[in-house]
Amino acid sequence: MGDWQRDAKRAAAYYAVDHFVQSGMRLGLGTGSTVAFVLDRLAQRLQDGTLTDIAGIPTSETTTQRARDLGIPLLSFDDVQTLDLCIDGADEVDPSLNLIKGLGGALVREKIVASAARAMVVVVDESKLVPRLGGRAPLPVEVLTFGWQLHAEWFRTLGIESVLRRTADGAPFVSDNGNYIYDCQFPDGIDDPLRVEAVINNRPGVVENGLFLGYATQVVIGMENGSVTVRQVAEER
Ligand code: A5P
Repeated sequence: MGDWQRDAKRAAAYYAVDHFVQSGMRLGLGTGSTVAFVLDRLAQRLQDGTLTDIAGIPTSETTTQRARDLGIPLLSFDDVQTLDLCIDGADEVDPSLNLIKGLGGALVREKIVASAARAMVVVVDESKLVPRLGGRAPLPVEVLTFGWQLHAEWFRTLGIESVLRRTADGAPFVSDNGNYIYDCQFPDGIDDPLRVEAVINNRPGVVENGLFLGYATQVVIGMENGSVTVRQVAEER
């Protein structure tokens, strides 16, 4: 990640907290390097008293730990079933504000938390904007470990090249849910995301895929020139 990207992620994250979070909100807390800046800003604002009574449901063990270290109050779905707002990053954002997420490996909890939120603010640097999903980032697909060997050939029959995600030492990457993740490459990008989502999620053993279609209500974009711009869908869910 270049210096401008770090600055752009920070700018988008701070803007999102300062413009979309209000005292008393129950938040979904995403995962990734941009959300790390969101957590920093939430913690600052809680400490200086300009935000009060904030609590969030984290989407990963990493976010749980960071939020705890920063003193951000956490909740679970035992406490609330509806969230006011989810803030999360993305790997790709298309012109309709559809997303690919999950390069950080937290896509399942991210999608559950986003689906429980009335609105989803996505924080990205401008390198994440794409004309069509799947042209650059792979689509992550989380699968149960049982029968994981069966999926690569099935993906191939759909014209999708897939690789099982591995850690630096070559072992399979294991998600917070104890599952494996395939990273799926679409040579020409994803033509029909709704169909791809339906076909993949209908496969036995697939837990979830990283297409987030119709979830984002606003996207806050940190630009290379230092400015921040916001795109939003016409109506909130
Ligand atoms: C985590 O699983 C992902 O969905 C992240 O939200 C996404 O990879 C964006 O990460 P960065 O903010 O680190 O770019």
